[in-house]
Amino acid sequence: MQITLILLGLAVLGLLILFTKLTHDANHIDAKQKSEDQDTKQDEDVAEKLVDSKNFLYTGIVVCFLLLAVITWLLVKDTMYAGHFQSWSNLIVRWMHITFGIAWIGTSFLFVFMENSLHANKNKPELKGDLWMVHGGGFWFVEKYKVAPTVMPKGLHWFKYEAYFTWITGFALLCVVYYFNAEAMLIDPNIMDMPTWMGIAIGIGSLIVGYGIYDGLSRTPLLKKPVWFGVVLFSILVGFAYFYCQVFNARAAYIHFGALIGTMMAGNVFFAIIPAQKALVKAAKDGTPLDPWLGQFASMRSFHNNYFTLPVLFVMISNHFPITFGHEYPWLILAALSIASGTLKHWLNLREQGQLSVWVFPISVLMLVSIIFISAPPKPGECKDEVTITEVYSIMQERCVTCHSSSPTDKVNTKAPNGVMYDTPQQIKKMADKIMQRAVITKTMPQNNSTGMLPEEREKLRCWIEQGANIEE
Ligand code: HEC
Repeated sequence: MQITLILLGLAVLGLLILFTKLTHDANHIDAKQKSEDQDTKQDEDVAEKLVDSKNFLYTGIVVCFLLLAVITWLLVKDTMYAGHFQSWSNLIVRWMHITFGIAWIGTSFLFVFMENSLHANKNKPELKGDLWMVHGGGFWFVEKYKVAPTVMPKGLHWFKYEAYFTWITGFALLCVVYYFNAEAMLIDPNIMDMPTWMGIAIGIGSLIVGYGIYDGLSRTPLLKKPVWFGVVLFSILVGFAYFYCQVFNARAAYIHFGALIGTMMAGNVFFAIIPAQKALVKAAKDGTPLDPWLGQFASMRSFHNNYFTLPVLFVMISNHFPITFGHEYPWLILAALSIASGTLKHWLNLREQGQLSVWVFPISVLMLVSIIFISAPPKPGECKDEVTITEVYSIMQERCVTCHSSSPTDKVNTKAPNGVMYDTPQQIKKMADKIMQRAVITKTMPQNNSTGMLPEEREKLRCWIEQGANIEE
């Protein structure tokens, strides 16, 4: 163990030195780029090469991080530190994912807002419009061109890394939470039993196939009919939701649905928007005629991303709420959540364009409210006899404490999940409300029902809680 720690320390030290060098180089390139006169074509090429090598360095940093994570995992695998390492990876990767996601969706919201709020300027026919803003103690003035400026500016800021890194960290999180723990988190033998590798292959494969279908669809003439495109795409997505719920446990099904939309969004940036923008810039530089379709194509795909934002966030969060995925037909709730949040985004867009719609907002709120009603638990049966703590205690001992205990025997959950333990009647009573939520109403505990809890036992827990969760004999 000591040798392992020394090795790890050396690896970290090595990486730190490497990072310092990399960031130093990157700064150097930045400074060089700024000071350089790029008026001639040759200088521009040099600048482009420098940007390329900077990107290369950033990719290097990401690869180094991944390597470090893999080495550490190999070192701690099958030791008592495995769970500790996994929890920390989960926390750190999640933190990165959320940060990049905020940067990406935040920029997207800002640009959509600007687009929607442009004022036409009659004196400048080449402009689509301009906009004055005040933010952070300064005044901002932006102008949007209809196609492109006649002369390309020297420093052109691109927005793409937020999207790429959101996807990369999201995929890493999917691996850390669901794929490394596939037996507990992904596969539910009561839904479909399969080997781990197959579950992971279905998960990753579905993202590729799903994106392929979406991309293919958006290269057909249907792209120009936004409403019909929306209807067709929504039906396809519901198909995926249904499919995921037939192969994975409901929580994993939700995260894969979210990951599919996220992949479409990041794919839009990587495969459609950025290439189109590059082609536009190149045409402008070479003085060849601009293909206006390229701009339209990119903006349609970006328009889709705009509509994806609220649903993708809702789905990602709802995967922490068993009130959603614990429903009998989880895919139906998923479909309803997507429409309700998508129409809410539509309403926001209309509002920014100054159109006050009287029906879109009420409809999406109504849909959300009906989901709350639909997902409500069914009316329970009567509790005839009084249930004693002794009965409850023995049920919990048999079905829950393999994980929820100060010394769990479960292979994956080597520490009590969320610190929740049921070793004493007092501990059980304290958690009565949550036990009702997870083990009775949503039936999302025991996880994947791995301990084989029976419906009668769930009824017993319910009656005990309804009768006041009494722990006196
Ligand atoms: C195979 C392991 C396992 C078993 C068995 C298990 N749980 Fe859990 N439980 C987990 C994990 C992992 C989490 C955290 C993730 C989550 O909330 O889904 C959790 C979370 C919970 C929570 C949420 C705690 C919070 O802070 O919100 C409750 C309540 C719960 N379990 C109750 C139960 C009950 C009641 C049983 C027995 C009927 C049970 N669990 C059996 C693994 C298990």
